[in-house]
Amino acid sequence: MKYPKEYLDEIKTRLKVSTVVAKYVSLKKRGKEYVGLSPFKNEKTPSFTVNDEKEFYHCFATSEHGNIFDFVMKTQNFKFGEAVKHLAQLAGMQPYMFSKQDEEREKKWKEYIAIYTKYVDFYHNELLKNDNHSNARDYLKNRSLSKLEVKKFKIGYIEKKSNFFDKLKKEFNEKSLIESGLFYLDEKKKVYVERFRGRLIFPINNISGQPIALGGRIIENLDYLAKYINSPETPFFKKGSNLYNLDLARKISNKLDHVYLVEGYMDVVGLTKNGIENVVANLGTSLTDRQILILNQFFSDIIICFDGDDSGYKAAVRAAENSIKELKPEKQISFLFLPDKEDPDSFVNKNGKNYFIDFSKNSKISIHQFIFNHFKKQTNNDPSSMAIFEKKLRNIANTIKDNFIKKYVLEYFLERISDLTPYTSQNKKNSFIKKIKSLDTTKKHFSDSQNLSAVELKEFSLIYLVIHNLNLMQENIHLIENIKLFSKINIQILNKIVSKLRSGENVTIEMLDIDNQLIEKITKFAPIKHILKNKQDNEYEIIELLDDISRDLNSYDLEFRIQELESKFSKDLSEETFNELKELKKKQNIN
Ligand code: UTP
Ligand code: MN
Repeated sequence: MKYPKEYLDEIKTRLKVSTVVAKYVSLKKRGKEYVGLSPFKNEKTPSFTVNDEKEFYHCFATSEHGNIFDFVMKTQNFKFGEAVKHLAQLAGMQPYMFSKQDEEREKKWKEYIAIYTKYVDFYHNELLKNDNHSNARDYLKNRSLSKLEVKKFKIGYIEKKSNFFDKLKKEFNEKSLIESGLFYLDEKKKVYVERFRGRLIFPINNISGQPIALGGRIIENLDYLAKYINSPETPFFKKGSNLYNLDLARKISNKLDHVYLVEGYMDVVGLTKNGIENVVANLGTSLTDRQILILNQFFSDIIICFDGDDSGYKAAVRAAENSIKELKPEKQISFLFLPDKEDPDSFVNKNGKNYFIDFSKNSKISIHQFIFNHFKKQTNNDPSSMAIFEKKLRNIANTIKDNFIKKYVLEYFLERISDLTPYTSQNKKNSFIKKIKSLDTTKKHFSDSQNLSAVELKEFSLIYLVIHNLNLMQENIHLIENIKLFSKINIQILNKIVSKLRSGENVTIEMLDIDNQLIEKITKFAPIKHILKNKQDNEYEIIELLDDISRDLNSYDLEFRIQELESKFSKDLSEETFNELKELKKKQNIN
């Protein structure tokens, strides 16, 4: 649903950017602007500015830029619609009503949510308070779930003979009740009965925390009943577009960039109970690319951790083939395999949080490694199976939407295949030359479309130099502490290295705990490695190289800031901007 421009403009007119921002960031007035510490970055000197006249904020440290809607979306993890609602309220305006059809749907939606909310609350209270439900409570106790988890996840219990339909009918439209999927018609008795009777229920919430569906588990082992059932799909609930617990997990996405994706409701509950709250589950169907997209809005690193059994492994393969399509630069998908017969719930309960996290750090493998290993297992070195293998991998790489990732994943596959076929190594030389060519064009393509690429290569050189001279860097840490990088990942890596070096212990590459893939990528592309080859062990020359790189990076920084100011100046023609610009240009000339 699209909001009309006038409505959005009205919100903007009523709310100054500084009013909205000041709710989250403390601002100081400077000239026509406000400045403060960036909410997008941990920093000590303010690089975040707000301009009410121009109706935008700008962060010089991260290049985040936008209006009030962008601001609350980015800092509060709101979707656009939520941002509009939130800001409209702040502006003292009525929520927007859409056209007749939209209004109809909105009304139905509200009723749907109301039904589910009432239903969930009712059976949650039953589980907490009704003394007849001691069997359900015993079941939970046996699984060592306390009231805390029951409340956090609003778990409920519907005993076998319960019927809430008649009560709800007094308050809600009968058709809506039936459409909710909570009840179905008992053809013989001609009455509506509870779909989830005799089950513990786990409410599945939308991203704003409102219940839109249920998962239900039996508590007695009866072979003829499915252990779990879910709500059927409804106009407001699509399995492949929702994830269990995303509403709670997303709240900590400001602090953590990774999320565990597990199979079961109980896995989510078990991990949360043990202090790992960045966890979501898909809903009893195979993982969709849509779910990956949604998760990527909040987390850059998805760790898929399914059960350590056959069906978990098969689900992982399916998930890998589906989700690799959405792989993007800056985003990662990896897989974590648990020991046989364990699921995340049992594993974390046995071993605790820290063990789980360590295990995850040490054992996860990236999606392309997993896919390679999986299909490799099905070959037996005869030409036919190798051909099928290569074809399969090429096909999978081809499904990747992002062209850069596609290229590198394919290259990874082909390189590993060529490692497996020593007899064709004669040809390897030729193909290697071809490969280098293709890399050059990729780089060119990359730098044509994104002017950061030259910078990124510089950053790679810097990191390469640092990780190959850790001791020297430790002694000269002041030289790398304040170097300004641009790409998020590289910033993170450098920060990690600096803080390790600061700790004073003797640091080796392995201790840096940087993703191997990243190290491989850096090693592959850092232009400096060719120069460095001849300069090993000459500390003086290495420091000089370091100096060169950091000066180059600084001048990129200046250049970007100048570009920015120039475009600003062309719009505002203010003296202030002009002076700032002059200052920077002076600096540029000195350098
Ligand atoms: P599991 O059988 O691994 O469930 O199925 P679990 O979470 O470990 O359950 P507990 O620990 O025995 O309670 C994982 C998920 O697959 C779906 C459910 O979403 C479940 O959480 N599932 C499983 C079904 O939809 N139907 C079933 O019959 C079984
Ligand atoms: Mn399980």
